[in-house]
Amino acid sequence: MNNEKYIGVFDSGIGGLTVVKSIVESMPDENIIYFGDTAHVPYGTRSKEQIIEYVLNDVKFLSGFDIKAIVIACNTADAAARETVIEKYPDIPVFGVVEPASKKVALATKNNKIGIIATNATVDSGSYEKNIAKFNPDAEVFSVACPLLVPLVENGRFKKGDNVIEKVLTEYLSELKEKQVDTLVLGCTHYPLLHDIIADIMGDGVEIISSSVAAADTLKKELEARDMLKTTPSSERKYFVSDNAAHFEKQALIFMGDALGGTVGQVDI
Ligand code: DGL
Repeated sequence: MNNEKYIGVFDSGIGGLTVVKSIVESMPDENIIYFGDTAHVPYGTRSKEQIIEYVLNDVKFLSGFDIKAIVIACNTADAAARETVIEKYPDIPVFGVVEPASKKVALATKNNKIGIIATNATVDSGSYEKNIAKFNPDAEVFSVACPLLVPLVENGRFKKGDNVIEKVLTEYLSELKEKQVDTLVLGCTHYPLLHDIIADIMGDGVEIISSSVAAADTLKKELEARDMLKTTPSSERKYFVSDNAAHFEKQALIFMGDALGGTVGQVDI
């Protein structure tokens, strides 16, 4: 195994950059190729069959590079297509977001009441329930689909004090507050931008778990265990999108919280 190879990361669009941000924070020397399927975003409102078709195209594109691992940096894609990707690419280790976040929350809950917020497709898949049960069969899981959050975040409505996002989140989270969950998973890679508003609404005593951070932590542990971490300093990052590279570049700062650290190209997949 050549440890210098790229980690191939993909998402339906821009949300996966919150995963890249966490990867860069914990493994700054890794080489990364990112693909955002911005021509087909959002995935979260689509059927499982359609999501699988898009995901296979995304992975096909990434597999054209010298990659040592695939990271499905999208809860919706991971929930719908993880098994298919593993089946089609048996020689490349495949990592996701749902299982790491499920394990983290399953072990973190004290009252065994877990809240999940995610896209329609992720909630409908039952993927979080299945994965949490593997680590904590006693946990009760309450999932709420939040279809308005992705478009609101993408339109800049994620800041504290924004009445619209605060009202929408208060409504989505009311059921989870009623159920008295003590842990809440941000089960969509866009939601880390809403962390502080969500934490305020849920109140003290509710632990918020980001699937993006959990994914990067697990990736690091797994690469370490397989002796696949890059060992030389300095890294290369390349980004590709299927539509409007300039728009992606502009939005990226918000999701990365920093410069992309690499070029953005548009490709027709
Ligand atoms: N990034 C996706 C996720 O984590 C949400 C965006 C979409 O609907 O495509 O679920």
